[in-house]
Amino acid sequence: MEIIIADDADQMSRTAARIVRRVLNAKPNAVLGLATGSTPLGLYRELVRMHREEGLDFSQVTTFNLDEYVGLPKNHPQSYHWFMHENLFRHVNIAPQNIYIPLGTTDNSAAFCAWYEERIRQCGGIDLQILGIGSDGHIAFNEPSSSLGSRTRIKTLAQQTIRDNARFFASIDQVPIYAITMGVGTILEAKKIVLLANGPHKADAVAAAIEGPVTSMITASALQLHRDVTAVIDRDSAAQLKMRDYYVWVQEKMVDAP
Ligand code: PGA
Repeated sequence: MEIIIADDADQMSRTAARIVRRVLNAKPNAVLGLATGSTPLGLYRELVRMHREEGLDFSQVTTFNLDEYVGLPKNHPQSYHWFMHENLFRHVNIAPQNIYIPLGTTDNSAAFCAWYEERIRQCGGIDLQILGIGSDGHIAFNEPSSSLGSRTRIKTLAQQTIRDNARFFASIDQVPIYAITMGVGTILEAKKIVLLANGPHKADAVAAAIEGPVTSMITASALQLHRDVTAVIDRDSAAQLKMRDYYVWVQEKMVDAP
């Protein structure tokens, strides 16, 4: 895993945006896997800026979001449909028919999830997957004990996740209990993955994901099995990494690597 320790969340976002730009420059019709939550907000702001000021082009891009709450309609302000439109899609020139987000209001979730997986395959697979990490070490809504081979399906959220996400809702009782989420197996098929984390509340999860054993109790640890993962994390979230000095050393030396 490549580990880039940024000074702060802004630098994390700019670094991640440069990686996205590199992928889009190399392949203008790339398939992006996108995440929601607080972590990628700065990345989306930076991509919008690059679109406006530098002409970063999304016209041929296809996107697949990781997850969506079950039961929230697309126009619910806490739905991930709403989040993505507000924070990215309505500000860039992406074609609406190229946007895929799990449908939380489907009445046949098994068929929907199978179709979602099939659409990813038909689009050629995900070229670059953006991920955040939960304080319980989850990626997407793959909570502790999720199979590392899991595919898109309904998951019951962990109580910790419900507590973490309650800040976005009027009260904790309004946080949905179920979500449709890509599986760990789905995520591991992306060609390239960028894991983002910032803030001291992520330090334990980041350390377990990067340096701990591969375990379904920390689903982000499955990223150790993928051959092209870049973790872009800020100093606070890197605080518990035992090999932090080594990662900084590697970062410095990579500049002149043969
Ligand atoms: P956050 O969520 O970015 O809001 O901290 C991350 C996650 O739960 O994956």
